[in-house]
Parts: sequence; C-alpha cells; structure tokens
Amino acid sequence: MRDKIEHLRKIIHYHNYRYYVLNDPQISDYEFDALLRELQELERQHPEWDDPNSPTHRVGSDVTNEFRTVEHRYPMLSLSNTYSMEEVKEFDNRVRKEIGEAEYVCELKFDGTAISLTYENGQLLRGVTRGDGTRGDDVTANVRTIRSVPLQLNGSDYPAFFEIRGEVLMPYESFERLNREREDIGEAPFANPRNAAAGSLKQQNSAETARRELDCTLYSLVGEGFSFETHYDSLCAARKWGFKISDQIGLCRSMEEIEAYIRHWDQARHDLPFATDGVVIKVNRFADQKRLGYTAKAPRWAVAYKFKAEQACTELLSVDFQVGRTGAITPVANLAPVQLAGTVVKRASLHNAEQIALLDVRLGDHVYVEKGGEIIPKITGVDLSARSSESLPFVFIDRCPECGTELVKYEGEARHYCPNSSHCPPQIIGRIVHFISRKAMNIDGLGEETVQLLYDSGLIADAADLYTLKREQLSVLPRLGEKSSDNIIQSIRKSLEVPFSRVLFAIGIRFVGETTAKTLAAHFRSMDALIAATVEELEGVQDVGGRIALSISEYFRDSTNMTFVERLRQFGLRFEIEESEMLSSSLEGLKIVISGTFAEHSRDELKRLIEMHGGKNQAAISSTTDYLLAGSNMGPSKLAKAKKLGIRIIGEEEFMRMIAMDSESGQPEENLQEKKSEPDNLKEEKHRPEENNPIQGSLFE
Ligand code: IVH
Repeated sequence: MRDKIEHLRKIIHYHNYRYYVLNDPQISDYEFDALLRELQELERQHPEWDDPNSPTHRVGSDVTNEFRTVEHRYPMLSLSNTYSMEEVKEFDNRVRKEIGEAEYVCELKFDGTAISLTYENGQLLRGVTRGDGTRGDDVTANVRTIRSVPLQLNGSDYPAFFEIRGEVLMPYESFERLNREREDIGEAPFANPRNAAAGSLKQQNSAETARRELDCTLYSLVGEGFSFETHYDSLCAARKWGFKISDQIGLCRSMEEIEAYIRHWDQARHDLPFATDGVVIKVNRFADQKRLGYTAKAPRWAVAYKFKAEQACTELLSVDFQVGRTGAITPVANLAPVQLAGTVVKRASLHNAEQIALLDVRLGDHVYVEKGGEIIPKITGVDLSARSSESLPFVFIDRCPECGTELVKYEGEARHYCPNSSHCPPQIIGRIVHFISRKAMNIDGLGEETVQLLYDSGLIADAADLYTLKREQLSVLPRLGEKSSDNIIQSIRKSLEVPFSRVLFAIGIRFVGETTAKTLAAHFRSMDALIAATVEELEGVQDVGGRIALSISEYFRDSTNMTFVERLRQFGLRFEIEESEMLSSSLEGLKIVISGTFAEHSRDELKRLIEMHGGKNQAAISSTTDYLLAGSNMGPSKLAKAKKLGIRIIGEEEFMRMIAMDSESGQPEENLQEKKSEPDNLKEEKHRPEENNPIQGSLFE
C-alpha cells in the first residue's frame, strides 16, 4: 500500500508539473481530481505515511503559521539598476575590460517578491523570503501551496542539497479576481500585483495563500556541487528538474543583441499575463562571474535595466466620485483622451483624498498618467510648469454625490465613506447585485442593468423585494419579454433552496466573505444563533478576528438590517444549516477545543466532524469548554489550564467513539465495512489510466 501511495504521489506531481509548469496538461481536470481524491483517501487510511511534500498538502491548512526567521546560507543580494541604454553600455564596457569577450543571458525582471527555496534529496525543504537579505521569514507552508513550485524534483542529477531563487508572482488574472473579492466585502484592494504577492505569501493561513493562485518563476541556482559552466545551462537543468523557468530568456553576445532584447520586451511585456519592471542582464559563464565578483550589495556581473513606466501627459478635465456597495468613495479622473501603452486612456484612478492632496492635483492641470503593474492607469504627478496661475487646490467632496449625506472617515482608512447605507441608491444597487451573484443566491437572468431597471421603476427597494416580484410586473418593463420574465421568477424561486452559508454571504455583512460565511454557518448552524452571538463568542470562532466579529455584531444591531433579514426569513430563505448537512447530534451543545496533532485526522477534519455532529469547536480553552481533544505535541500550558478548569481531556480514539461514525462518508460503521470489503480487483480498475502514463522515461527515472 505504501508503494501505491508513493506511486500516486509521483503521478500527481507529474501531472501538476505538466499543467502548472509546462502549461501542457495531459489529463483532464476531472481525471486529475480523481487521482488526488484517491490519494487523499489512502493517506487518510494511512496517516503514518504522511509526507509534508505530498501533493495533497497543496490546498494548505488553517493552522496559524508562525514565520520563523531563518538566516540565508548565501545572502540574497540586490541588483544595480540602470535606466538608460547608455548605462547598460557602460556596464558592458566594464565587463569586457575585465574578462574580454563576454556572453550574457538576458531575462525579464519579474515584479513580484523574491523567494529562496531549499531542496534536500530532491524534496522541498524550505521556502524563505528575502527579508533584509541576510535573514528572511520561513514561509514553507505557504510556498507548498504554489502549484508551480515542485515539491519533489524530476530525475536525479541534482545535488543532494541546494538552493534555488526566484520570484513569487501574482498573475494579473488572479490579482483582479482577488481585488474584486476584496472590494466586494469592503476590504481595500491591493495597489499592484507585487504587493498582493508579498501579502499572500505572508498569510497566516496557508489555505488562504492556496486560494490566491500565486505563481513562481526561478532564476538562479545557489550552492555547491553544480558542474555547470554557464548560468544558461544551469537554468536548462533546473527546468528539467521541474522548476518553472522563464520562456523569455535570451543569450546575447553583443550590445546590439542586448539592446534588441530590451526593445522587444519593453513592448511585448504588455502582452504577458504577469507584471515585469525591467530586464536583467547577467554574465553567462560562472568563471567570468567569479572574476567579476561582488560589491557589498550586488554582483558586478549583472545589472538590471528598468523599463520606463509608460507615461503620458494630459489634461485633467473633471473628477467623478464613485460610490461602492460598502459606501466607499473612489475619485476617478476624467482626462482628455491620450494614447498610452497601446490604448486610449480617458479615465484614471486618483485613489483617495490623501493621494490627491499629496500630488496637489488640481482641475485643469496637465497630469502624468502611468500604467504600472496595475491595469487601471494612475495619475503620478503634475506638470507644474503648465499650471494656470488661477488654479485652486482641489477640494474633496464632503457630501455623497448620490444622496447628499455627509461623508465620514473611519480610523486607519484612507477612503471616505457615505454612511447612508440604507438609502443611498448605488449602495442599495451594489448590495442587490451582490445578493444575486453566483456565489451568493445565484439568481440567473438578472444582471446589474436589470436590477437598476427594477429599482428605478420602483419595483424593488432592497434584495428582499425580489421575492415579491410577479411575472406581470416584469414582462411590461422595457427589454424584458415574457420569456426572460419567466426565467427571472423561476430562478428567484429556485434561490430559496440555496444553503444557509450562502444566504449568510448574500446578505452582505462587511468583511464576511464566502469562506467566513461557511465557517460561521457551520459553527452557529442558524441565523438565530448567529444573531444572538456576542462579540466574544464570534471572536472565539477560528479565523474570525475582532474586526469581523464587530462588523457582524453591528450588522445585527441595526434595525434596518434586522427588518431586511426578517423579511428574508418570511419569504422562506434557508436560515439554518440543513439536516442533511448534519451527520448526527451526538455532540449537541458540547464545546470542544482541539489541540496538538493527530494520527488519524487533520485538525480541519476534526473541526468539521465536531460541527457536523452538532458540537462547537472553540479556539481557546475557557470555563465554558466541555472537552479538550488532545493530540500529540500539545503545549503543556494548555494541558495545565484544562486540568485546572476540570475540563475532560479526550484523545482521538475516544472522540471517534463519541461520534461512532465513519468520518469521511458520514455513514455508520457497518456501511464502512461493506465499502472496505469491495473486491480488490474492482479497485484496481480505477487505477488503469496510470498504466499508459508517459511517466517512465527521462523525467522520473
Ligand atoms: S537575479 C544577485 N533575476 O530583482 C542578484 N533578480 O533587485 C540575484 N528579480 O531581489 C537576482 N527578476 O527579487 C534576478 N530575472 C531576475 C529577476 C530578479 C526579478 C528581483 C529579485 C531581486 C531583485 C534585485
């Protein structure tokens, strides 16, 4: 069985590599998931053969990460920057003076956050951030979730111990999705993919990092025991071992070739799916690198050429103020149309009042617009020489442009907010649009425009009103025929079956995203229990911090919100976790704290089991705790505290007896027996695909 597990891991690593590194999958997502599920099941049955580098760990976990500081074996240096072709020529001259004929490798300079990965016997051992160059943070658990980072290397011709360095990136697509989600729950969006990548790598919860869809491109091998003569050869080998190495590497033998590479990528980078901010030019031969050596901060054998941010200068005509679902005000500049990086720009973000004051942007100014790592261009400065002597400082609005309510600023927030959440039209529309969205109530046939139409014609004033709509009211509206009206009514009706956790997400409590809504639904199990919860109780739920707890509590203390929630209840939306989601009520009312590590189940599984059997999982021991579910490696202070409070301490086995069920299937023990006795030959059938797997051959041998 152990061989089987190892074999499955190898196959999954291989297909992961085909998909995430080579961009050339050989099996369907469905087949991949089936393999992964099979491995998960076997690992569950045999926890003694767990491996931190098993592909099943890529999804991360919600155990709080602590970032140990680790000293870099070799310091992580920076690069000297150049900003003109002249400076690159000077670099080339310096190099030639020292070594004569030179060969270079040109690479893109990736705009993410640097990482150093250590491998031991072909297994990922550690991932450490750059930190101050000497010491960085150990972010291994988070690095494991990055699909393009190999957890186990291909082949065998790598040194037993080495480091490889590169850049963790967030592709534009993931960046935009993440920011949309953040805006949706009232979190400030990340300014650019670099910040988003760095922030995601430092998440305390690796399951969250996994969700963020990071990517990792490697650009330098570090350590002893390599026999390569050139940097280029070392990258080719690293690519074979399974690392993602840039496809945009160029070998250049003259300044003309370097210049051509830079000019090409200065344009072509706009078509790449990730951010770059320059080109790195490296001397190719290691012997030459050695001769050139290092300054205190950077190698003498490499230099970075920084792309000039594409900039244009144009007139600021006016400023609009957009009001989001949460009431956040975003100033948007209307510009005289100008050509920038291949598109015509008419609008640009001004972020917030502080940013406007900082730049001293005024109406009628000629402003510089840049396209940086972000998609929406931003204003970065003012051409003061072109400013009219009559211009006046920009005055930020103090009332909502939509409803006239006085704006407010919350502590620690740069943005202004319109506090009139219940009557400010764009906030209402934004909330309804969120309510009907796919991950919330999933009401098909309704889009933002139709919602606006229904609102403008007075048919709905909030999302609850959707449930009062009649077919006849809809079909008379412009653009809505009989058929689409029927569809809308039908999908509104269908939404009554949406589970409680999604209803909770749909009502739009600030900071309560999809995942938090699921956690809350599983923990409290009904809207009533959630409404009754105190801030302390809310904070006691794993992954619910003070800010979220306060926001939930405030939401339910507001009478307008409560009227809305009560109306939803009357219309029949699910306000409780369904019985089918519950396995039993054997832990009804019991509060259980999990601590330590367990042989048979992950902490996540145990948490789910507690909730699915009617118990509550508490984050910390208190006088209200009924049981401490104790595993190995538990902190002695926790144990002492539990003993002092007279809390019953149980182990994994006893816990399983208490719920007397098979954890995964949710079936009573007898059924499990039946399942287990499934003839072995039948089981083997499922594994057929791997037989025709092209795994043999150079990659895995
Ligand atoms: S080589 C000894 N290559 O730029 C220097 N760095 O300013 C090793 N970077 O911290 C760095 N793309 O995060 C190198 N192709 C590339 C790069 C690259 C991005 C970043 C890296 C480093 C910073 C140096």
